[in-house]
Amino acid sequence: MNKMISQREEFNGEIFVPGDKSISHRALILGAIAEGVTEIEGFLAGEDCLATISCLRQLGMKVDINASGSVRVHGKGLRGLSTPNGVLDCGNSGTTARLLCGLLAGQNFDSVLDGDESLRKRPMARVIEPLRLMGAQITVGGDQGMPLRICGSHLRGIHYKMPIYSAQVKTAIILAGLYADDKTIVEEINEGLTRNHTELMLNHMTENGTLVGKKIVVPGDFSSAAFFIVLGLLKSDKGLVIRNVGLNPTRTGLLDALRAMGGDIKTQNVQSIWGEDVGDIFVSKSRLNGIVLQGDIVPLMIDEIPIFAVAAAFAQGETIIKDAAELMLKESNRIVAMTMELGKMGVDIAATNDGMIIKGAAGGETSPLRGAILDSHGDHRVAMSLAIAALCADGKSVLHGAHWANVSFPNFFDIIS
Ligand code: S3P
Repeated sequence: MNKMISQREEFNGEIFVPGDKSISHRALILGAIAEGVTEIEGFLAGEDCLATISCLRQLGMKVDINASGSVRVHGKGLRGLSTPNGVLDCGNSGTTARLLCGLLAGQNFDSVLDGDESLRKRPMARVIEPLRLMGAQITVGGDQGMPLRICGSHLRGIHYKMPIYSAQVKTAIILAGLYADDKTIVEEINEGLTRNHTELMLNHMTENGTLVGKKIVVPGDFSSAAFFIVLGLLKSDKGLVIRNVGLNPTRTGLLDALRAMGGDIKTQNVQSIWGEDVGDIFVSKSRLNGIVLQGDIVPLMIDEIPIFAVAAAFAQGETIIKDAAELMLKESNRIVAMTMELGKMGVDIAATNDGMIIKGAAGGETSPLRGAILDSHGDHRVAMSLAIAALCADGKSVLHGAHWANVSFPNFFDIIS
């Protein structure tokens, strides 16, 4: 799908963004292996989470999506999954693929996981290696891993020192650990730098050592709010509020980065629901200055770096993004994709081996960016970041592959139209 996007004068008011993708996946999976019904309110019905639902259904689970958008998972306990009735298609979703690897390694049946062209190129060794140490039997079919054949095996607990920052790998090991003899310990490089939704949800759902079905309220996805935080900084003269957004500190590095650039962003009405922080984000148009982004903040905003690059293009002076080589391994090579596409809009941007250098220009009456023919590179976050850039650029842009936004934010283009 192609979208024509024109410059927008202002963007003010109040919006809501759809439910958190990471939390929605986890609620489905933990709900499936809990005892009894899990009710998921605020579930993200994006393509990635729908892929997880269809895999769980193939594994014999009953999952209902009702008209209001909430989801009921009829959990059958730790040993309730059954032999899948075919290949489990994870679509574009790395989270589905990696979490299911951990879940399926310790079952008493075999399964095959596959995905789309992009997912087939994504590294799976990071999850296969620790699972094999636990006794998993996984055969790789492709260069990077997918398709994968998992022969359900008896697992043993391990003490695993994570060599990379990855919540997907951490969660896969935790899920496998639920089926293993002995204790499993996952030691992170630096604690607190990868998202901890799995740990918080397990705490919420565990009663006397048993996982039980619970109501899970899913906050708005901070990663989806991120596009509007940047749009508000660039275009909101009268103020923009994004309500009911997840503010788990393992996700909100972008707020610190944008504030360091001079962004006027406030959070209000923050409360904790089952361990997850949720609140409203207020943004006002601000003059931004370039910064150096590096070190511990990078994993805390890894999914937001494409939209951060857009903010940097409108900031005065140079922004250097370092320590972000993981961007090359996402749904697209996001360093290449953002450099190429923002370059088409006239941004002075260069790729490095672990990030980007962006020479921003705050602009005066006219935008420093010009409309262009853009491509999403088959990546939802690239598509939406470019759409925001196009709303702030002079003239018209055409975005090819705009439909990729459906992976995580099905109503994105309704909100900006
Ligand atoms: C996710 C973890 C992150 C993130 C992805 C979702 C998750 O990936 O980029 O969008 O839900 O656990 P990594 O685990 O590869 O860092």
